[in-house]
Amino acid sequence: GSVKLQDRFGRSIDYVRLSVTDRCDLRCSYCMPKGFRGFEEPKDWLTFDEIERLMGIFVRLGTRRVRLTGGEPLLRRNLPELAQRLTALPGLQDLSLSTNATQLGKHAVALRAAGVDRINVSLDSLDRACMQQITGRDSLQPILDGLMAGKAAGFDPIKINMVAMRGVNDGQIEAMAAFCIEQQFILRLIEAMPMGSTGRNASYMPLGPVRERLAARFGLVPQAQELGGGPARYMATADGRSSIGFITPMSQHFCATCNRVRLSVDGTLYLCLGQEEKFALGPMLRGGATDAEIEAAIRAAIELKPQQHDFNTQPDKIIRFMAQTGG
Ligand code: GTP
Ligand code: 5AD
Ligand code: SF4
Repeated sequence: GSVKLQDRFGRSIDYVRLSVTDRCDLRCSYCMPKGFRGFEEPKDWLTFDEIERLMGIFVRLGTRRVRLTGGEPLLRRNLPELAQRLTALPGLQDLSLSTNATQLGKHAVALRAAGVDRINVSLDSLDRACMQQITGRDSLQPILDGLMAGKAAGFDPIKINMVAMRGVNDGQIEAMAAFCIEQQFILRLIEAMPMGSTGRNASYMPLGPVRERLAARFGLVPQAQELGGGPARYMATADGRSSIGFITPMSQHFCATCNRVRLSVDGTLYLCLGQEEKFALGPMLRGGATDAEIEAAIRAAIELKPQQHDFNTQPDKIIRFMAQTGG
């Protein structure tokens, strides 16, 4: 069919966040459960052929943006090959990647060649000990190396995602902003969302006051221009050369303009980051369903998309971790 996806609240759904693995080499406190999962690929993980077919159906239903997420997406073997297959889908306009960058040095050139348009890198601090505390690994140098390799490969601008945590890295926000302005990265500050059993312990802090502080310190003015397909609201330096984004799911949520759904690595379609509504497409793919049947299932699933999260009123409701749906 040619009718695009629209949910019960009139929102057009044209963006899929595609998780290609739930594994990660880091253990960020707000994202991953404690404990170790092996490196074998479970049988229920969608293959590249299955992902390509499913995303082909989504693109025919109006999906214009796809973001590769994890866990850490670069831990999925041959990810640039998948990227290549997705950028070849006629109608897809924007293929992006959210990564911790530890493996970006190895893959940046291939990702660029595969047509990946944009990269967002998670980096919560420029202090080695603080990064060790947050990620559970001595990760700062590998991340910075990966980040610079991404820049050298021609990704421009790269966005830096910093989850602001009171008492953990909130004293380092100015230093990160200065670093990003100097390096021409777009910093995005993010409010921690309560996900899984780790998320509840995250030191949530509202970003309103931080925004005031940074505006004064760096002379920022509100910026109307949109920089990507996501929920960030941006401010720019007076010379217009640098931007800082604020992602405020807790203090000022953006659900009214939500345009997205998430697909986990086993083919489960999650209708909202902060709600349990989901639909299992994996078994359909494996059970011989036709494209028309899958399309009908996706349309029916979109009907389940909730109006908004309720992290603020029911912070213990979601038991899955961020790493399962890639944020
Ligand atoms: P751009 O297109 O570059 O703006 O990317 P993005 O900000 O949409 O994606 P990214 O993976 O960099 O995510 C940044 C932060 O936004 C993460 O903390 C995500 O969990 C959060 N985020 C992204 N989409 C949503 C959403 O639909 N709802 C909520 N609550 N948070 C989201
Ligand atoms: N709250 C907010 N952002 C989170 N991320 C991971 N877990 C959380 C959380 N609990 C962010 C990471 C990454 C992005 C994809 O999601 O910082 O940059
Ligand atoms: Fe959309 Fe749910 Fe995120 Fe709100 S919390 S923006 S409804 S995915």
